[in-house]
Amino acid sequence: MSVEIRTCPPDRFVELLKTAEIGFGEDVSDELIERVRKVSDPARFVCAIDGDRFVGTGGAFTVNLSVPGGDLAAGGVTWVTVLPSHRRRGILRGMMRLMIDDCHARNEPLAMLWASEGSIYQRFGYGMATYSLSFEAESASAGYARDWPIEGSCRLLRVGEGLDLVTPVYEAARAQRSGFLSRSPDWWLNQLPVADKDSKGGEAKRLVVYETDKGPEAYAVYKTKGDWGPRGANGTVIVDEAIGSTERGTREIWRYLFNLDLTRTVKAWRLPVDHPIPLLAAEPRRLGMSLGDGLWLRIVDVKAALEGRTYGIDGHAGGRIVVDLSDEYCPWNAGRWAIEVSDGRARVAPSKSPADLALDANDLGSLFLGGFGAASLARAGRVVEHRPGGLAAADELFRGALQPWCPQEF
Ligand SMILES: CC(C)(COP(=O)(O)OP(=O)(O)OC[C@H]1O[C@@H](n2cnc3c(N)ncnc32)[C@H](O)[C@@H]1OP(=O)(O)O)[C@@H](O)C(=O)NCCC(=O)NCCS
Repeated sequence: MSVEIRTCPPDRFVELLKTAEIGFGEDVSDELIERVRKVSDPARFVCAIDGDRFVGTGGAFTVNLSVPGGDLAAGGVTWVTVLPSHRRRGILRGMMRLMIDDCHARNEPLAMLWASEGSIYQRFGYGMATYSLSFEAESASAGYARDWPIEGSCRLLRVGEGLDLVTPVYEAARAQRSGFLSRSPDWWLNQLPVADKDSKGGEAKRLVVYETDKGPEAYAVYKTKGDWGPRGANGTVIVDEAIGSTERGTREIWRYLFNLDLTRTVKAWRLPVDHPIPLLAAEPRRLGMSLGDGLWLRIVDVKAALEGRTYGIDGHAGGRIVVDLSDEYCPWNAGRWAIEVSDGRARVAPSKSPADLALDANDLGSLFLGGFGAASLARAGRVVEHRPGGLAAADELFRGALQPWCPQEF
């Protein structure tokens, strides 16, 4: 095969992004390219070239991911496509190798992605790290179970307004949960409304902020799609992102979204599995909930990753476990590691002691943010307990008070 796999020539970055249009089967507009350029380092994009034509694309964004008790550098793998004419010849495999080795060379302990199909990436050691809860609710029957008082007020912002209001809400929510990406002002441009009208003739994004006398406590970015039927208005609210920094903020921003005139359905996705909405709702079944995979995580550097988070539900646990880690794809991680935790921080070192648990890179990706427990993974026939109590000890260390949440696809 005469296909060359390499980093993208800097002067062909836009062409690379355009090539992905074919692989994804979706329009890549000039406006999207401009926004992506602002948050990308072209040196982190890779391609497969056959003759002079791009036949494969991929890249990684340079971001930080919130992890229990902190923040870690993570390569956000994105724009992965191979032309239909060149599939199943190992091109993705070659591009992934370059991208993971690049994360390693940059001392990024983590790589992560949202998968179009989960089966593609497990072979490279990505583990499902969060669930993504979706719902398609009947707004009329999504009332709350109790008469929580309506406090504060919601304010619709104009295009270009609100960055100063949403940033503190996002940062406060991010400090409470692992799984959130860091966001520069340029990243926010991808999330917030940029025009009064959608350039493709679709629905425009709106930004609403919920405020009290203590300041902004929640915001939502959403679209409404109007429709009329024999029984009247039948519109849909499509929630792109709704985030509260307080319980009250979350409750009130969703009250707003469920009560928009002329709409009957509210669609939302990328929510954490422990989102309060099903507990607030009087009729949870009418939320039309479904569960899928969310963020996939690949531990690139096991020592740096494990030493970069805190342990225990309060972040102050102590204890010691020894794990036998198999990792063919990143062999520098493989082996027996002792994780010695004191006051919530770990020292991680190679060990010759008997292992408490055996696990692989996928399992560690699932465990790392606390989204999945060692005992659950063992029940699925994945993690193996070598010492009685090993699973319970791992769960004491790795679980958090809240489930991880990645509200953003990238
Ligand atoms: C997914 C995609 C990038 C795979 O590219 P590719 O060059 O055909 O993949 P490779 O030939 O390198 O395959 C590597 C391995 O993954 C497997 N694989 C590839 N695509 C797969 C899929 N969709 N489902 C399951 N396994 C898949 C291959 O069988 C191969 O397995 P092996 O190494 O055990 O033999 C390509 O099919 C594509 O562009 N799809 C549409 C866009 C897309 O979904 N992109 C991913 C965005 S997250």
